[in-house]
Amino acid sequence: MKRSVEEHAERFSAKAAEYDDSKSAEYHACASLVIDYADPSPEDIVLDLGAGTGAISLALASEAKRVIARDISEGMMAEGRRKAGEAGIANVEFEYGEFREPNVDPTERVDIVTSNFALHHLADDEKREAIRVMAETGARRVVLGDVAFFESPDPTEPFYSPEVDDPATVGTLVEAFTDVGFAVVVVERVHDQVAVIVAERIGSDDAVPGAE
Ligand SMILES: C[S@@+](CC[C@H](N)C(=O)[O-])C[C@H]1O[C@@H](n2cnc3c(N)ncnc32)[C@H](O)[C@@H]1O
Repeated sequence: MKRSVEEHAERFSAKAAEYDDSKSAEYHACASLVIDYADPSPEDIVLDLGAGTGAISLALASEAKRVIARDISEGMMAEGRRKAGEAGIANVEFEYGEFREPNVDPTERVDIVTSNFALHHLADDEKREAIRVMAETGARRVVLGDVAFFESPDPTEPFYSPEVDDPATVGTLVEAFTDVGFAVVVVERVHDQVAVIVAERIGSDDAVPGAE
């Protein structure tokens, strides 16, 4: 991690009020795919990691039974809670949680894990640990949208901020999921530096989500 968890939290809290209005077309395309592929049923409990101001959590609230939204930035979560209140959404819970210690009651059932544009703050070995923790929740599906490299990024056009972000290659992420017993069933290339990965627990009998 190029910054500590506390530094990342502070950085995001400082820009929380403007965050929603500052996003790129690629971010919106990625978020939209994460929402579509998550595809929860009304009985499903979703864990959204690096939930921020709730782009994914709040969008899935009407489809799922409950959304457990976890983030390290109190400022980002305050925006998320405010938006939930304004929209009358009562089944999303924003609380502190870090990727590798998501602060989820171990007796809690988790069916689907989502994460959008957040995991790239961790170094690759930390990402692998975070993906292991996602698997340990028991979820049948993980939908990850993030900055990740399909090929060597053009150094003159970085989609990310090299001083704070630490994206993996798509191959590294796919391998991390297969290492913990998941099959990667979808890889969407939103941009040469933005991917959506859908991983299903091997043995779970779900069809590819979002497929018609
Ligand atoms: C670019 S925002 C994305 C927020 C939201 N998922 C979205 O799609 O708009 C990244 C979020 O990741 C959170 N974050 C960064 N490092 C984290 C970590 N180690 N554990 C949990 N959340 C983290 C930040 O606080 C921030 O809210």
